[in-house]
Amino acid sequence: MGTGYVGLTTGACLASLGHRVTCADVDEGKVARLSAGRVDILEPGLAELVAKGLTSGVLSFVGQARDAVADAEAVFLCVPTPMGAGGAADLSAVEAVVAEIGDALPPGCAVVTKSTVPVGTARRIRELLGRSDVAVVSNPEFLREGTAVADFLGPDRIVVGSDDRAAARRVAGLYRALGAPSVVTDAASAELVKYAANCFLAMKLSYVNSIAELCERLGADIEAVTEGMGHDRRIGRSFLKPGPGWGGSCLPKDTSALLRTAEAARFDFGLLAAAIEENIAQRDRVLAKIAGAVGGTLAGARIGLLGLAFKAGTDDLRDSPALSVASMLAAHGAEITAYDPAVTRELSGLTVVDSAYRAADGADAVVVLTEWPEFRQLDWTFLAGLMRGDSVVDTRNLLEPRVVLDAGLSWQGIGRSSAG
Ligand code: UGA
Repeated sequence: MGTGYVGLTTGACLASLGHRVTCADVDEGKVARLSAGRVDILEPGLAELVAKGLTSGVLSFVGQARDAVADAEAVFLCVPTPMGAGGAADLSAVEAVVAEIGDALPPGCAVVTKSTVPVGTARRIRELLGRSDVAVVSNPEFLREGTAVADFLGPDRIVVGSDDRAAARRVAGLYRALGAPSVVTDAASAELVKYAANCFLAMKLSYVNSIAELCERLGADIEAVTEGMGHDRRIGRSFLKPGPGWGGSCLPKDTSALLRTAEAARFDFGLLAAAIEENIAQRDRVLAKIAGAVGGTLAGARIGLLGLAFKAGTDDLRDSPALSVASMLAAHGAEITAYDPAVTRELSGLTVVDSAYRAADGADAVVVLTEWPEFRQLDWTFLAGLMRGDSVVDTRNLLEPRVVLDAGLSWQGIGRSSAG
């Protein structure tokens, strides 16, 4: 149920493992496009898997959810669970689909939540279904946008939880071919694993961004500090890159939802609240850094932004730190021209252009906000010649500072000295 990033990746990958998969989506236009092999989202390897599944007949797309479940052994719920009122997860899409398919489910099948859903949702779905012959299983996904297919086919682990353990084991069995360790547990624990993991990653990043700020104040270099930390296997090397703050469609909504869950359970989760606040503070610090780079006054300053997507490798703008920095700059009266290799659509409050050089043309400062590797390959001397000012703010520590300095520009990263 649902053919967004999660549903389509899950459907196409399960089909590639030899299962017969029918994907349902309420968007009839999307169903028609997918049935013709047209994939709208930027996800490496996904279009190929969809094409393969369609050709071999193991994958199909339908508009009516009830048509997809008639002879299903497992029904995966992959519909959106956006941030709702007060920061809690909005489950209306999950509830709507459960209401729609409830009496069409064959006896013995398992309804599996793939979408990130709050602890207690499996129980709620069981109540909504009111059927003792259908199991409800939680099977959270750990797919990153941009590497979703590779993450699905090479997972670190499979997590499956249900109060009906036999059903949980049956669902875990669907992934047997992947050879990944599986954690089979109760529904509440499986539901919590997803939030606990995403919130841990968000806290790790807020911590790194705080240490980066400390580096700037103490004259240390965050790149050396994180390298020194990352060799410690208890810490690990990944998720240690400072940036303009964490964003995307998952970490902001999941941190906020777990905080609401904790509040409802009367637990003061100060650690998580601090990570969220730190993420807001990081954007404010980036804004101050850009203001400093143009002499302290943003009003009337021309800023060229490199990158709009929330991270490289995706065209997703949902909760993108780049967009929030752009709107803060606009609110302070800056004129913004932006380039992102994956974004061509019009956006309000800024001019989107089709090359980094156009974004830099006449700019007082150029700001790197998304870590697209192609920004490293730019002709920085040529770019410097197009600018009105000479400041580069690199919020991803992406560029080679020496190259930028040699082009006659100034360079400021995050948590590093401005001499690079
Ligand atoms: C995240 C999780 O990493 C996935 O495991 C999870 O399945 C997914 O959410 C989800 O819940 O569906 P994703 O939102 O695709 O995946 O993005 P990440 O790659 O985790 O990046 C999140 C944010 O952290 C981005 O803004 C990124 O730029 C930032 N980030 C990441 C850093 O600033 N530094 C890093 O070192 C890593």
